Amino acid sequence: MSSTDTFRSMFAGAELDIEDLYLLEAFQIGYVPGWVPEAEFSAVLHAQPAIRRFLAKKNPDVAPYLDGLLAQYDPAADAESPVAAADRVVWTIADLLVYNKCPEVYDALAFHGWDWQEVTSITNLQDKTVIDAGAGTGRVALEAARSARLVFALEPVGRLRRFIRERAAELGLHNLYVLDGFSHAIPLPDSFADVLITSHALGWRLEDELLEFERVVRGGGHIIHCPGTAEIESEEAQHRRLTSEDWGYQFSRYQEADGPKRKYWKQVGAALPRGPRPASEEYTQRQGQYLAFIYQYTRVHGQPPSEADMQSFFQTSPPSVHQMVIRLEERGLIARVPGQPRTIKVLLPARELPKLEV
Ligand SMILES: C[S@@+](CC[C@H](N)C(=O)[O-])C[C@H]1O[C@@H](n2cnc3c(N)ncnc32)[C@H](O)[C@@H]1O
Repeated sequence: MSSTDTFRSMFAGAELDIEDLYLLEAFQIGYVPGWVPEAEFSAVLHAQPAIRRFLAKKNPDVAPYLDGLLAQYDPAADAESPVAAADRVVWTIADLLVYNKCPEVYDALAFHGWDWQEVTSITNLQDKTVIDAGAGTGRVALEAARSARLVFALEPVGRLRRFIRERAAELGLHNLYVLDGFSHAIPLPDSFADVLITSHALGWRLEDELLEFERVVRGGGHIIHCPGTAEIESEEAQHRRLTSEDWGYQFSRYQEADGPKRKYWKQVGAALPRGPRPASEEYTQRQGQYLAFIYQYTRVHGQPPSEADMQSFFQTSPPSVHQMVIRLEERGLIARVPGQPRTIKVLLPARELPKLEV
C-alpha cells in the first residue's frame, strides 16, 4: 500500500483539498521538498500561481525549490490533470494537513492511545512538573495533568495548540499550559521539569533534541520516549543512538491493545551517559568557558561550533584552540568525531556548566 493510500484509509473522516496548503505552518512547508511527488506538485503550481506565492512568502527557504519545479516541468496540457495532481499532492502530506485542518480526526486514531501504566511504572507523576514535547492533540499532556502539579504541552502547530487548550478547558484542567516551540529549542529554563515525555514525536533533529531534554529536566528527573513504531528495524539508527553509551537510555518492548510498542527512558544525572563520573571531570576556569561556549553555540545555531568559531570568540590562535579541544576530550568533558568538523558535544549536563562570560 502506498503512503497516500495508507493516509486515505487512516484519515477516512477527513476532507482535504489543495487550498488546505494555506493552513501550513512555515516549518511544515519546509518539509514539502522531497516529500510530495514533483511532477504533480509542479502541475499544481502552474495551475495555481497563488499557492507558489504563498508558500514562498511563508517560508522563503523553499522558493528556489518551487521555482526549480516550475522550470523543470511544463504546465499540464488539459484541465483535468492539475485536479488529479492536486489530490495526489494533498494526500501525500495528509498527516500535516489533518493536524492543521481537523485535529479531531487525528485525535481519534487508536495508535497513540498508549497504556498510561507504562509511563507511571517508570515514575509517578504525582505533584511533578511534566513536559509533553511534540504534544499533538495533547493525549499525553491531558492525561498527565490529572495527577501532575503542572504540565507544559509543547507543540509547534497553532491549530493543535488551540485544540489542546479547548480540551483542557472542557476537562477543567487548570494546571496545563500550552507552549509554541520545537523539541530542539524548548522555551523553558534549565532544570525546570521533573519529567519530559515524547509520544510519537522524536527525531527531527535527534541529537539537538536529546541535549535539550537533558537541559530542561532537573538532575534525578526522568525522560521517557514512546516512539511511533513497534519494530526497531524502521528506526534502527535512532534506537542505536538512544541506547548508546552517549545517551544511555534503557529500553523495553511491551504489548498494547493495538499491537506491540516500545519505550525508552532514563533518569537524568543519576546514570550519566558514560557511567560514573571520574574525578578528572573537574575543569579549570578557562576550560569551563570553552565548555559553556560550545554548549551555548550549539543551542543557538543548532550545530556545534568549528574550531575557527572558538578561535574568533576567544581571540586566540588556532593551535591553542586545538590543544584545548584535545585536552577537553582527554578529560572526558567533550566527545567529538576526530577529523570531522562541528561534531563536538559537551558531555556534562547544562546545570554543571559555568555562565559564559562575554
Ligand atoms: C505524530 S504527532 C504525535 C502527537 C502526540 N504526541 C501523540 O502521541 O499523539 C507529532 C507531533 O509533533 C509535532 N512536531 C513536529 N515537529 C516538531 C518538532 N521539531 N518539535 C516538537 N514537535 C514537533 C507535530 O506538529 C505533531 O503534533
